[in-house]
Amino acid sequence: MSKATIVTATVLLTGFLSAVTVQADEAEQLFNFYCAQCHGVGGKGDGPNVTADFPVDPRNFTKADEMEKLSDADIKNVILEGGPVVSKSPMMPPWGKTLSDEQVDALVQYLRKLCNCVGKPG
Ligand code: HEC
Repeated sequence: MSKATIVTATVLLTGFLSAVTVQADEAEQLFNFYCAQCHGVGGKGDGPNVTADFPVDPRNFTKADEMEKLSDADIKNVILEGGPVVSKSPMMPPWGKTLSDEQVDALVQYLRKLCNCVGKPG
């Protein structure tokens, strides 16, 4: 391999890697900005907004046994439409007007990382 080829390959590889990290970072930023005040920065449902008069606790996303019961489509649906659409609390707001489809998909993947689990199919 010539020196130029190696340099080009390195530049391409670095570019590729940083593109991937930007996406993962964006999901984390979105989560911390929009969701963490209730769900907590680590996703444990213990955000600063949650007070004793909250009728239900925000979902703890690190509980794999709970999160496994939801499919990726279920999670996407509740993020877009809010708690009441799945007979859950209106304390979980709808985000369909705030976030793009791609951002919601990225958040679903982020939640899967937090629970370290896969959802039921469908
Ligand atoms: C104002 C507080 C609040 C904010 C902000 C919030 N949530 Fe929630 N969320 C809740 C509450 C409360 C529940 C539990 C509802 C229930 O169990 O009835 C919940 C539940 C959920 C669930 C589980 C639904 C289910 O079927 O169990 C998901 C997924 C979710 N939230 C995702 C998000 C995401 C992603 C964001 C950021 C875009 C977000 N939430 C922002 C309060 C909030």
